[in-house]
Amino acid sequence: MSTTVQPTWLMLGASSAVARAFAREAAAHGAGILLAGRDMDDLERQAADLAIRHGVPAAPVPFDARDIDSHAAFVADCAARAGGPLNVFLAFGVMPDQSELDRDPSIAAAMVEANFTGAATVLAALAPVLEAQRQGVVVALGSVAGDRGRPRNYTYGATKAALLTYLQGYAARLSRSGVRVLCLKAGPVDTGMTWPLPKLPFMVSPRAFAAGAWRLAQGKGGASYLPRIWWPVMGIIRSLPTRIFNRLDL
Ligand SMILES: NC(=O)c1ccc[n+]([C@@H]2O[C@H](COP(=O)([O-])OP(=O)(O)OC[C@H]3O[C@@H](n4cnc5c(N)ncnc54)[C@H](OP(=O)(O)O)[C@@H]3O)[C@@H](O)[C@H]2O)c1
Repeated sequence: MSTTVQPTWLMLGASSAVARAFAREAAAHGAGILLAGRDMDDLERQAADLAIRHGVPAAPVPFDARDIDSHAAFVADCAARAGGPLNVFLAFGVMPDQSELDRDPSIAAAMVEANFTGAATVLAALAPVLEAQRQGVVVALGSVAGDRGRPRNYTYGATKAALLTYLQGYAARLSRSGVRVLCLKAGPVDTGMTWPLPKLPFMVSPRAFAAGAWRLAQGKGGASYLPRIWWPVMGIIRSLPTRIFNRLDL
């Protein structure tokens, strides 16, 4: 009789409000969790909470997306800790105000490094592990901001557009090994990232977003808007003629 081994979810940027809610969802379904991030006190508390509430193995792992030289050893450590197949939820990211990014090139460079370079390098290090296990799913958080550059956040949006392009090729590569890759084009979620902003349309809670992400993670890969309402909305925004788009206060 063969028993199916539950994959362990590797949460990259596990202190993120969205990742936190997704980890609860995965643990409630019986999956082990590796919580990777920079705030070890928070991750240790989260791990203890998940283990007590859901009776699953959960452990914190130090991870800094910008410390790209550490990514190979980090991935080897995670694979050893999991001791079985890994699924990946990539949630780290920063979104400084566009005016700050324009004023200080070091803030812009740090954002690109975290949101894109760090994502690309850690995913590259994970690829051989995922290919060898010949199963699993990678869920990465893109954004509707990557669909069309808007005056309010075009530098941030550019990092998410780059991530989507990367994930398209990554998905094609990993599909040959039976691994699914899903890019979630997220609309606004009520987290620390959006807290300073004025009220945003179709905003959802991290919990509602995580429930939708979990559902999509069980299906095919590719790119999906979440919540779904952003599919028609972004269809309209993408198709607006430039002269109209440029006049809008977006
Ligand atoms: N909230 C939204 O409306 C929204 C919409 C579209 C897409 N997204 C995307 O969804 C993801 C999650 O965002 P969120 O809303 O949950 O925001 P959040 O609560 O602010 O979480 C962002 C996380 O990224 C981590 N992080 C930043 N730089 C890092 C680095 N160098 N190394 C490791 N971790 C790093 C932060 O860790 P520390 O705690 O260590 O700083 C934080 O835990 C992001 O990729 C974001 O771009 C969010």
